[in-house]
Amino acid sequence: MSSQTDQSASHNDTSDDDHLPARRDDGTVAMADDPFADPGLPPHEPRRQDIDERAAKRSERTVAFLFTLSMLATVGFIVSYVAIPIDEIVYIWPIGHISGLNFALGLTLAVALFCIGAGAIHWARTLMSDVEVPEERHAIEATPDVKAHVLEEFAKGAEESQFGRRKLVRNTMFGALALVPLTGLVLLRDTGPLPGNKLQHTAWKKGSLIINESTLQPLRPEDITVGSLTQAMPEGLDPHAEDFHAEIAKAAVMLVRLEPEDIKDPRSAEWGHEGILCYSKICTHIGCPATLYEQQTHHALCPCHQSTFDLADGARVLFGPAGHPLPQLRITVNDEGFLEALGDFDEPPGPSYWERG
Ligand code: FES
Repeated sequence: MSSQTDQSASHNDTSDDDHLPARRDDGTVAMADDPFADPGLPPHEPRRQDIDERAAKRSERTVAFLFTLSMLATVGFIVSYVAIPIDEIVYIWPIGHISGLNFALGLTLAVALFCIGAGAIHWARTLMSDVEVPEERHAIEATPDVKAHVLEEFAKGAEESQFGRRKLVRNTMFGALALVPLTGLVLLRDTGPLPGNKLQHTAWKKGSLIINESTLQPLRPEDITVGSLTQAMPEGLDPHAEDFHAEIAKAAVMLVRLEPEDIKDPRSAEWGHEGILCYSKICTHIGCPATLYEQQTHHALCPCHQSTFDLADGARVLFGPAGHPLPQLRITVNDEGFLEALGDFDEPPGPSYWERG
């Protein structure tokens, strides 16, 4: 009865809901000392090896076997390294023909490492003590005594190192520490000369002959037929030169011939020659060659991510991730009847992120 009364009183001390903390008469909340009571550990259950010495012996032999196997595999690794010729090829099903030395080294090393790990795990799970030991958390912040001790030790260390007294040593040390990061900066020079304005300009200049990229012959207007797409580059680029690929990556162009009435953009028509239009073939997305040509629609498609450009309308982007039309090269015909450039592109060709630089 008394117990019931106590429980009832206790119940009245708290709020109506059992899960809410108690509220005092003045309205403040009275937290219990430990609102999250420690449920404690479940009773310890001994393993078979704890109560049966024969099972423990079996585990011991298993662990010893795994460690011995690891030793043998390590010896096998060394023997393989010495004995197997480096160019020996063996057939291993289902891998096929592979280097015998690599296979032996890989296999023996894998076995050696696996057996050490497996032995250690088996040892820990079956033989080492598995009695749970709770460790109470303690405050993360150091006690005032510890803090004072650390400061005292620090001051003592500074005093013993004569850091404060030997100003010459201290100052030169600061100088050395400040300068040493410069070594990393100097090494940046190895990344090569700065690009300067090379990214804004290409090999095209006024009077550059337009040559066929395959035959390396200068092109005449009659070489460019309606419905075809011709890939070209400026004359003077040496395919064997060190910077050839860097230059062709910016200067590569394609020529198409449209019926003049099909050209929608007057500027495009003006920059071309008798319906021949010359565009950069470097996609303005991330630089693939956009040279899949649909002659009926005059669309150029980039195979990488399907950006589509309307060559009849200033290479406007019709579809895809490209953010900018393909730059057009102004062309004309020289006195000898060859197609030539009237200058460089008026904007950087290639991925449009250069425009944001
Ligand atoms: S590179 Fe042309 S669409 Fe991505």
